[in-house]
Amino acid sequence: MTKAMFISLEGTEGVGKTSNMEFINTILKNRGIDFIETREPGGTPLGEALRAMLLGEDFKGMSDDTELMLMFASRAEHVAQVIKPALEKGQWVLCDRFTDATYAYQGGGRHLDMQRIQGLENWVLGDLKPDLTILLDAPIEVGRARAGRRSAPDRFEQERDTFFNRVKETYLARAKAEPERIKVVDASGDLQSVQQQIQRILSHYMQL
Ligand code: TMP
Repeated sequence: MTKAMFISLEGTEGVGKTSNMEFINTILKNRGIDFIETREPGGTPLGEALRAMLLGEDFKGMSDDTELMLMFASRAEHVAQVIKPALEKGQWVLCDRFTDATYAYQGGGRHLDMQRIQGLENWVLGDLKPDLTILLDAPIEVGRARAGRRSAPDRFEQERDTFFNRVKETYLARAKAEPERIKVVDASGDLQSVQQQIQRILSHYMQL
């Protein structure tokens, strides 16, 4: 068996992250892989409390720097308590969003300095990165139409399309810069076509 893999899933709102997390979960399970599924912000009791602050209404007006540092506070806890121990035990980690989301949302979306994010990444993570990141990509309007059918929008979902277009472009630029790690999936079509693409990527990585 290959070394424990760290897989993250990324994308803008409404691209089908939830259904595709389930799909990847099923593939790993069917393959008999020992893995944990987790998410960011969140993944620990402290991280989930920070998630509620980051997405909810109570601290709606927090500064962009505060938002950035809370994302990394959640991540520091997550890595120390959950991700590193799992990988060290040989368990795979399937994570709904990770540091690429910070570059995309706080860097691209909020215009925070990428060097500053890089500095936090170096501090908190050292050289820990996902081995594989699947980026679900679809036009913002497509995601909006799908997400609109769900419950009340959170603090990020309330942002404008221009914000999400910057997020999307930053994700794509990162995929272009790191094509070995970040695999772009066209998520504009139906679920079946998206799952076929994901299956192909995973098969390649895991020699399924
Ligand atoms: P979601 O995981 O349910 O999509 O919600 C998490 C939200 O948090 C989503 O809008 C993206 C945002 N986010 C950031 O802005 N930066 C981050 O580093 C992470 C992990 C998430």
